[in-house]
Amino acid sequence: MTISPLIAGNWKMFKTCSEAVKTAKRIAELAKDITDIDIMVAPPFTAIEAVSEALLSINSRVRVGAQNLFYKSEGAYTGEISANMLKSAGVSYVIVGHSERRQYFGETDDDVRKKIGAALESNLIPVMCIGETESEKKEEKTFYVLDKQIENGLKGLRSNELGTLVIAYEPVWAIGTGNTASPNEAESVHRYIRAKIAKMFDNKLSEGIRILYGGSVKPDNISELMSHHNINGALVGGASLDPESFIKIIKYNK
Ligand code: 13P
Repeated sequence: MTISPLIAGNWKMFKTCSEAVKTAKRIAELAKDITDIDIMVAPPFTAIEAVSEALLSINSRVRVGAQNLFYKSEGAYTGEISANMLKSAGVSYVIVGHSERRQYFGETDDDVRKKIGAALESNLIPVMCIGETESEKKEEKTFYVLDKQIENGLKGLRSNELGTLVIAYEPVWAIGTGNTASPNEAESVHRYIRAKIAKMFDNKLSEGIRILYGGSVKPDNISELMSHHNINGALVGGASLDPESFIKIIKYNK
């Protein structure tokens, strides 16, 4: 099965609404001839609707993602945003369980599971982030940590519901550090994740699932990462903020 690559930009807590619109439009313009790669940008909540409208008005293939959601559909949950609110603001993808959410906001695998369920119910494509910390890696616990994150994050969900699921392997020690995993190292972890999905669900899901790599992806390391069979795209932080560097990542095969 051939998997169409996804290059996604996570803008984290950067850019005002007008900055985000400007950046998204520039990316769309630079990417207008690209048809073989899916592209997503995830601005802060305050810019989502304006960015979606701007991209829609120029018929861009660039899709909008959110960086988080809450799993309840509505209610007295001050500060939270539901899947349906995102959907109605033009969102297609939603990042779930980013290590920064886990680390700074106490998000658990159980939250991740509920958020993935809520995203799927609203027809949003969940991008589930997993990855080990530096100390877990040093203690050789990478596969143990990934097993737990996958098992608990997808518990109770069925294969036929998970057809759109994207997994992003983002080793925490590689995020924002310039310390990217070597392409071979990333490939072997991605192979492990795919096999885990086959074991937990079935071959059909595992063979079609997109597994992105994230953590210090830059224009100069993307081609080698993408040359590996089990690396189906990238979740890019810092290098997605500047259209000129993000487009070089998107055009890794040109
Ligand atoms: P950097 O590309 O800045 O390392 O961030 C990766 C990331 O966290 C994407 O979600």
